[in-house]
Amino acid sequence: MNNQIISLEDIKKSYFIKDTEFSVLKGIDFDIKKGEFVALMGPSGSGKSTLLNIIGALDKPSSGKYHIQDRLVSDLSSDQLADIRNKYIGFIFQNFNLIPTLSSLENVALPSFYTEQENYDRAKELLSMVGLQDKFNNKPNELSGGQRQRVAIARSLINNPEFILADEPTGNLDSITGKEIMDLILSLNKKYGKTILMVTHDPHLAQLTHRVIYLKDGRITKEKSV
Ligand SMILES: Nc1ncnc2c1ncn2[C@@H]1O[C@H](COP(=O)(O)OP(=O)(O)OP(=O)(O)O)[C@@H](O)[C@H]1O
Ligand SMILES: [Mg+2]
Repeated sequence: MNNQIISLEDIKKSYFIKDTEFSVLKGIDFDIKKGEFVALMGPSGSGKSTLLNIIGALDKPSSGKYHIQDRLVSDLSSDQLADIRNKYIGFIFQNFNLIPTLSSLENVALPSFYTEQENYDRAKELLSMVGLQDKFNNKPNELSGGQRQRVAIARSLINNPEFILADEPTGNLDSITGKEIMDLILSLNKKYGKTILMVTHDPHLAQLTHRVIYLKDGRITKEKSV
């Protein structure tokens, strides 16, 4: 059985500004296996978020092949990409990306609207799992940063994705709250078996994963098993 979830082959991404081509990803190759927790590190501007957006089916590569399990994602239409995103991938962002006018419960349930009936029961379970059983009806501006990120983590799980992408999930949090959020993300991997790719600038957090991939100027410069 093929236990690779993510497979990238010579992924390149360029942006054109007027007639000038800016090459951001210059040929990225790596695989992520089912159950792995991988950290992605590298200086600002090295292409980490660009790569995460491609892996998350939010953006398309300029060239190269990208498979999720056996599906060739790099060839899909925008509608098909949206389908992949909703079914297979959960997202956690640095700035939480919650909808300010919605309650915690509505924010968590929202992605379930695209795949099935709105699932408030599961949203309640997930909010309780992340310790927010008494915050169902609070809006994001009534929550602390750590609590907002917990809502976002619950939301990332609503469609029960196999794979979670996190872009600096602790970047806007103080170190103690960041550690609590990291513990929660670690439990998604250890307890719930989620495969995770996480961008971080914090080498201490990267050390808690299985493998660290270093990106510099659009290329992988080294890989290290932790
Ligand atoms: N839509 C776009 N159009 C043009 N250039 C872009 C676009 N998106 C990103 N870039 C450029 O691509 C490069 C990589 O950006 P990216 O956001 O992937 O970096 P990053 O590694 O995530 O950095 P950070 O650690 O600061 O978040 C940057 O030079 C950026 O200016
Ligand atoms: Mg970034």
